[in-house]
Amino acid sequence: MTEAAIRARAEELLAQMTVAEKAGQLTQYFYFGALAETQAGVGGLESDPSAVEKVLGRGEVGSLLFVTDPAQINGLQRRAVDGHRLGIPVLFGFDVIHGLRTILPVPIAMAASWDTDLIERGQAVAAREARAVGLHWTFAPMVDIARDPRWGRMVEGAGEDPFLGAQVARAQVRGFQGEAVGTPERVLAGPKHLAGYGAALGGRDYDEADVSDSALWNVYLPPFAAALAAGAGNVMTAYMDLNGIPATGNRWLFTEVLRETWGFEGFVVSDANAVRNLVTHGFARDLTDAGARALQSGVDMEMAIGDPAYARLPEAVEQGAVDERTLDAGVRRVLEAKLRLGLFDAPYVDEDRAREILGDPAHRDVARIGAERSAVLLRNEGDLLPLDAGTLDSIAVIGPLADSRRDTLGPWCFDFDLDETVTVLEGIRRHADGTADVRYAPGVRPAQRGTPSLFDMWPGNAPEDPEGFDDDAELARAVDLARDADVAVVLAGEWQNMIGENASRSSLELPGRQLELLQAVAATGTPVVLLVMNGRPLDLRWAAEHVPAILDIWYPGTQGGTAVANLLFGDVAPGGKLPFTWPRTVGQVPMVASHTRSHEPENQHARYWDEESTPLFPFGHGLSYAPFRYAGLAVDRDAITPDGTINVSVEVTNAGGRQADEVVQLYLHQRHGTASRPVRELKGFERVSLGAGETRTVRFSLGPAELRYWNAAARDWVNDLSPFDVWVGGDATAGLSTSFEVTGA
Ligand code: BGC
Repeated sequence: MTEAAIRARAEELLAQMTVAEKAGQLTQYFYFGALAETQAGVGGLESDPSAVEKVLGRGEVGSLLFVTDPAQINGLQRRAVDGHRLGIPVLFGFDVIHGLRTILPVPIAMAASWDTDLIERGQAVAAREARAVGLHWTFAPMVDIARDPRWGRMVEGAGEDPFLGAQVARAQVRGFQGEAVGTPERVLAGPKHLAGYGAALGGRDYDEADVSDSALWNVYLPPFAAALAAGAGNVMTAYMDLNGIPATGNRWLFTEVLRETWGFEGFVVSDANAVRNLVTHGFARDLTDAGARALQSGVDMEMAIGDPAYARLPEAVEQGAVDERTLDAGVRRVLEAKLRLGLFDAPYVDEDRAREILGDPAHRDVARIGAERSAVLLRNEGDLLPLDAGTLDSIAVIGPLADSRRDTLGPWCFDFDLDETVTVLEGIRRHADGTADVRYAPGVRPAQRGTPSLFDMWPGNAPEDPEGFDDDAELARAVDLARDADVAVVLAGEWQNMIGENASRSSLELPGRQLELLQAVAATGTPVVLLVMNGRPLDLRWAAEHVPAILDIWYPGTQGGTAVANLLFGDVAPGGKLPFTWPRTVGQVPMVASHTRSHEPENQHARYWDEESTPLFPFGHGLSYAPFRYAGLAVDRDAITPDGTINVSVEVTNAGGRQADEVVQLYLHQRHGTASRPVRELKGFERVSLGAGETRTVRFSLGPAELRYWNAAARDWVNDLSPFDVWVGGDATAGLSTSFEVTGA
């Protein structure tokens, strides 16, 4: 269908719709049909499936979420298409954050691969599975910059840096959507949550964000701009107040920035119940006012659990609080998205084909490669890793997370298949089969149970409380096991339900008795490899001094255990890099690589009375099984004008004895100008894989887009005249540098 035909068809439908049908088209309901029995009492949710079905029959539902069963999707779709005179198909949306059936490593992990092709491939797998079951739209990627690891949703994003964040956002949108909205086997992508959600005060999820003009444009908005430039057809609002105005009622954000400045032509959806919440915020007078004001600020569709504010839009139109043309503009966008996605031509899904696609082994390969390439080797004293399978008779695997399928997958997934999830214990067992004796002990309690959340109602998601677990005896048993083994692999971290939405922490310490376990195991004298399962930096001060090898495996997904074993035994070399600065302690946060310089910078290592001012591991840090050397950093000219481009090259050598990967990173610093600029900003990176002794020339170019920044005084983008320093290396502390100057024409 051509764009002109799409527009004409949307117009034709719009002309036949009543105001109530238009309001319905702008409403998205949670449909808990599959969960009717388990949902009772969870988080005070009210969503009666039969009530949703009734409005569906009236043609007053634009979209549904939380249905993933193809038969159920077809049933609901039939009601919408055959049961109403206009037959407008329903758009089915879902949180496909890191896979549907095949669970990829969590998004922060995939970002740590710094491999944008892989990230794109991963989300293409997720899209293919989602589309196969009848979903058309994912509420992803989450492109919120996260600089405070107390905030649990850090796990869903790409970390602290806007440049990396923008590249990852673009790759995810391309993976989900393909070339354009409507590409076969792909889904509509909805970057979220516009904007500043990650800046919640105190890292407390949903709390207000006060973000300066400079931080907003230079840090928080670039990943959104990149996602839109990649063609994202949808955007989701955020829950919190942004600078005193609820994001979901923020006309400046959704109309002036999103539509007028960025030229966005897709549709905007609210976060769940965020329109109703405009009343909670003390912003809207009542639900009618909330609906009217959200719509007027540019929020086309309301995501609602039960009783939507947008159901009152007809009343608001009647009262003159909303112009029907505003309603029409939103409906047009939603109908056009449905037409572009091909819903009118093919509203139903092939259930047999769905089963086939979900079982595609190629998807598991992508998940495994994702887990291998996202792992970050934080420390490897004396080259303890890789383990030499030939010389080990016994391996002790310790820690409850090593044997937990559900935790291996991480938060924010629902349709997983636990039977095909490979834990770290299983992965090591399979790999060592016949060569070493692998023994296991959890050592500490297998589950940490917090407050039951919305996600716990999904079958298999709620952590099970262990019965009859004798803490002291189990700890002692684990230590005995370690003492008798040639090597101890300890897996420590956070249980998956301790991170994610509504899961902030006030501490970054290893929960439970895990540090005590680690210390006791290390005290046996058996060499220890620490594997960290996490989605945020944890307090590893003790381990970073006393444990020789530390590998961050994140929540590695369906094939996690296989990937981890391949890394441990050296079938593949780790090459991931941290997408955030790793603080020593929670007291240092927020802490980022791209901070500015100020009074007494030489004192910056001693600003805390009781702690260093440096991180435990810098942004971009990550080792491999071979060292890399950098030389010959050069710029192709000494000076450029503000519209010019400079080419940078560097020679990178694998100085080790085996194939390994390095992420070559370029950092930039503007020496002076009309604002103070960060000491270093990431402005280029490339992941390279080099054979033993191989040297490669890696090239970057820096043009006006890399050199400009948002100047809060000018309230505009500026390109200052200044000398610039360039560093290239393997992390944010790279020492090799050169410089060039931007001069007047
Ligand atoms: C989250 C969104 C998510 C939505 C639907 C909300 O609570 O903030 O990110 O897409 O729920 O599940």
